[in-house]
Amino acid sequence: MPAPIPEDLQKKVAERLAFYQDLGIAPFYRDRPAETAFREEQPAQSPESTIRSAQIPHEEPTLPKTLRKPDLQKLALALPKIAPLPTAPAPSLFDSADKVADDTLLKVREDLGECTRCKLHKHRHTIVFGDGSPKAELVFVGEGPGADEDAQGLPFVGRAGKLLTQMIEAMGLQRKDVYICNVVKCRPPENRTPEDDEVGTCSPFLFRQLDVIAPKVIVCLGAVAAKTLLKTNRGISQFRGQWLDYRSSKLMATYHPAYLLRNPNAKGEVWKDLQKVMALLGLHAKKGKPA
Ligand code: URA
Repeated sequence: MPAPIPEDLQKKVAERLAFYQDLGIAPFYRDRPAETAFREEQPAQSPESTIRSAQIPHEEPTLPKTLRKPDLQKLALALPKIAPLPTAPAPSLFDSADKVADDTLLKVREDLGECTRCKLHKHRHTIVFGDGSPKAELVFVGEGPGADEDAQGLPFVGRAGKLLTQMIEAMGLQRKDVYICNVVKCRPPENRTPEDDEVGTCSPFLFRQLDVIAPKVIVCLGAVAAKTLLKTNRGISQFRGQWLDYRSSKLMATYHPAYLLRNPNAKGEVWKDLQKVMALLGLHAKKGKPA
């Protein structure tokens, strides 16, 4: 008689199954050997993921190794031609093309201080600077903290954050492997969209964070992050899912997890975007054992 599965584990498994089901890869979990199932049940693969699966043997992710050593040249050749869409004009703290020499995340945080530069400081409890690895090859940029983030001082820890964490884990990563931050560091009242002056005042700190980390890939979660980094007013649906450039990083804009909570049907689109990111980074989807 096998030992009963603890209740909290059962709940986690159920949540993960529901997540995969939303992505349309649920049958993968039925009585079939996990090793083969993911490949068979994936929705229509992008050209680059097809090529990647032919080149790289499927195995459980060993992150530090695979994340740091993608076969980028081959993958770059395999990628579809990047459309001539907005390319970020190299912003930084003083909007020059130069990096702040010897900058570190600590210095950026110190410079931010107990910020009162814009009106958002009046209602915030905690500045939400960012979380994760300063050496991350993958950075997620959201819009601004919500109530849970404002209370805990960490980005994406509320409902939308749980979904983002699931997406990160589905990519074969953990939160500590990536870096997560927002365009504005203080919660906008009633979770409204940050206003232009607030974005203008706060975004130089984001630009410096990105300059310090210099990730291979930046995923913009939602329109505010994408428009801020790309300096465009075009709607996100015009360039979502396409590879763009932000300074030395590749940039992928996708829907915000909060949007996915309201529109679960769009999860499949986001998963396709994240699969492109995984292909570029040489990552393998987590399979077999949902945590
Ligand atoms: N939404 C965001 O854009 N950022 C967070 O940190 C949480 C929710």
